[in-house]
Formats: sequence, C-alpha cells, structure tokens
Amino acid sequence: MEERFAFVAEWYDPSAALLRCYQLLYYPKDGAVEMFDVKNQRTFLRRTRYEDLHPEDLFVGNRVVVFSRQLNLVDYGDQYTANKLGSKKERTLAMIKPDAVTKVGDIIQMIYDAGLVVTKAKMTKLTWKQAADFYMEHQSKSFFNNLVQFVSSGPVIVMELMGDEAVSAWRKVLGPTDSTVACRDTPASLRARFGTDGTKNAAHGSDSLASAARELEFFFPSTTGHGPFNTAKYTDCTCCIIKPHAVSEGLTGKILNSIREAGFEISALQTFNMDQANAEEFLEVYKGVVTEYTSMVAELCSGPCMALEICGTDAPRAFREVCGPADPEIARHLRPSTLRAQYGRNKVQNGVHCTDLPEDASLEVQYFFKILDG
Ligand code: RTP
Ligand code: MG
Repeated sequence: MEERFAFVAEWYDPSAALLRCYQLLYYPKDGAVEMFDVKNQRTFLRRTRYEDLHPEDLFVGNRVVVFSRQLNLVDYGDQYTANKLGSKKERTLAMIKPDAVTKVGDIIQMIYDAGLVVTKAKMTKLTWKQAADFYMEHQSKSFFNNLVQFVSSGPVIVMELMGDEAVSAWRKVLGPTDSTVACRDTPASLRARFGTDGTKNAAHGSDSLASAARELEFFFPSTTGHGPFNTAKYTDCTCCIIKPHAVSEGLTGKILNSIREAGFEISALQTFNMDQANAEEFLEVYKGVVTEYTSMVAELCSGPCMALEICGTDAPRAFREVCGPADPEIARHLRPSTLRAQYGRNKVQNGVHCTDLPEDASLEVQYFFKILDG
C-alpha cells in the first residue's frame, strides 16, 4: 500500500465562526494532500498535488497552510503516522539571557543550523519576582541571588524551539553551564562564543521534557492569563515585520543580524500568528492603493511572522532606506545591499515590511505590541 500520513487538523472558518475538523492525508510519493470533513463524513478536498506543503512541516502542534487555509495539526490520525513522524518531536524553552540579547541573530542562526525551529519568540524583561519563580528549583543554592539578579538585569528573549529531541539538542548547542569550561572544551558552543563565566552564560535551556512544559507555560501560557510583558517603548522607533515566508525559509537570524549591522537597536521582538481580519486591518492603508493588497494580506497570515520595534535616530526614515525598494527585483538592481534585495523573492514575499510614513511608525508598533499582545 502506498505510504500516507494522517493528521487531525482544525480550521477556523471565519464566515461561519466555527472550528471545523478535518482528516488531512499526505502522500509523500507525489506530495499530494487529501482532506475529509469529519463531522459531515465527506470528502472536502480530493487528492491533489500541493507543492507548498513539506514533509518536515508535518507534526502535531504545527500550523500549515493548505490552499490558503491555516490548519492546526492537533493530533496524529493513526498510529503509523505517530510512530513515523511524532516520536522524536519535542518542544523546549530557550532563553537568551541579558548578556547575549544583542547576539539574537547569531543565536537564532545556531538554532536553525542545529535542525531546530523557532516556533514562538518574545522579548521581555523579568522582574526580580518573575526571575525567582522561574528559577525556583535553585532557591536553596548559593548562586540563587546572583542568578536572579542577573536574569532580571535587562531584557531577555524567550523562545519555543521545536524539533527532533529538542530538549537535548538545544542543550548540546548551549554547551557546558560554565562559559570558561565551554571555551576550553567546546569552543564552537553557544556559551563559549557568547558567555563570560559561570553565571553570565548567554542562554538557558530546559533540562527535561517536564521542565520544558512548565517553562513554556510560564512564558507562553496556553489557557489563562498573559505571560510576562513585552518591552515595546513606542517612542523614537519604527515597525518591522519579518514576513512569514522569510520566517519559514529560516532567514530570521540573518535578517536580525543585518538590522543590527545597519546600526539599529531591536527594542521589542515577538512572533505573531495573524489571522485574516488582523492582516486586513494592519494593511488597510494599502487597500485600493497597491494592486498586491489581497496577496499581501494572504502572505501576512500564511504563517508566523516576527514583529520588531526598531530604535535609532530618525528610525522610520533611516530604516526604510535599509529595507530598500518594495520590489526585490528592482532592489537587486539599484540597491543590492538592502534587506529586500537580499531576502525578498517578489513584491509580496519581499522579506520584510517596514512602516512607510514616520507618523504611522508608533501606531504600527502599537498594533502588534499593544493590541495583538494586549
Ligand atoms: P540553565 O538552567 O540556565 O539552562 O543552566 P544549566 O541548566 O546549565 O545550569 P543550572 O545548574 O540549572 O544553573 C542555572 C543557572 O545558574 C547560574 N549558575 N551560577 N556557581 C555559579 O555561580 C552558578 N552556577 C549556576 C548559571 O547562569 C546557570 O545557567
Ligand atoms: Mg538548568
């Protein structure tokens, strides 16, 4: 029998305001998909080749786009699929500590190089109490006060990482706890590259699946409440969105590095899953003005994007220069060092959005960091 993978997938149907449940089948031989409407017991999508769905995206907890519908893969549809695709997939929590936040681009690059994916990210600043709660397992240790003081001394970036054996894979990237030991024994490790000593060691990783579950819930609560606040300031800033295509192509680290190298500070950072209504509202000024408006909306809600608050002198104007012409083809001819020239594919998938008018900059930052993260 031909190999096929089965998933339980949910799709929120905005016109009916209903959560619909499907069986999604994927045939690796020819990259075809097929969907059944579970409730109504009928075929929803006949077997069709669909090249934009990649086998590595197929695991529970992920969100995939099939013919413009965002589907949440909520469960495996059969034991074969669970055994074949699910057994090794884990999530873990990574935290970039205050001493290495400016290295976020290099660190995200190391995460992708290790075969892991950043599925959520948020810059936050912990209070003393939040840091003490987070590290409560170390309450009785002699280094506890130093540790809590250190991780609450400035912004941190917390991330959900996903991949095969993510808990141990991420700790392997980190290297030994003490950065001086890391320098000696594993010079290519993250703590060797970016840490200083036994306390200032650049980043944290959950030490077990159970800790990962607790720590992910702490920063990215699934049910009640709101995790620690974002760090947006809304002044002397502009808004940048790393678009979903660039995020899924694994370009986040490189783009963040390019932004820093151009002399800007990233003062807030967070991933968002935009829905159609949010994307339409955010891009409203382009409606009827730019012919690609509908495609721009579809791109923005095709997967997770990363929103940034960017600070610097004359940030809106200066950052727009760094982004370059909206069309990457034109950018590659006229301004090859710009972000769109380097990371864009076409006018819609052009790597990054940036605020066009200086008077809109703070409003766009507020849309993400006050309204969507409200
Ligand atoms: P982490 O929890 O941050 O991922 O680090 P880890 O598992 O490798 O090490 P752990 O024993 O859990 O320690 C937590 C953090 O406390 C600081 N520390 N300082 N002797 C010291 O001064 C000392 N020992 C540990 C480090 O920041 C360590 O990452
Ligand atoms: Mg630990």
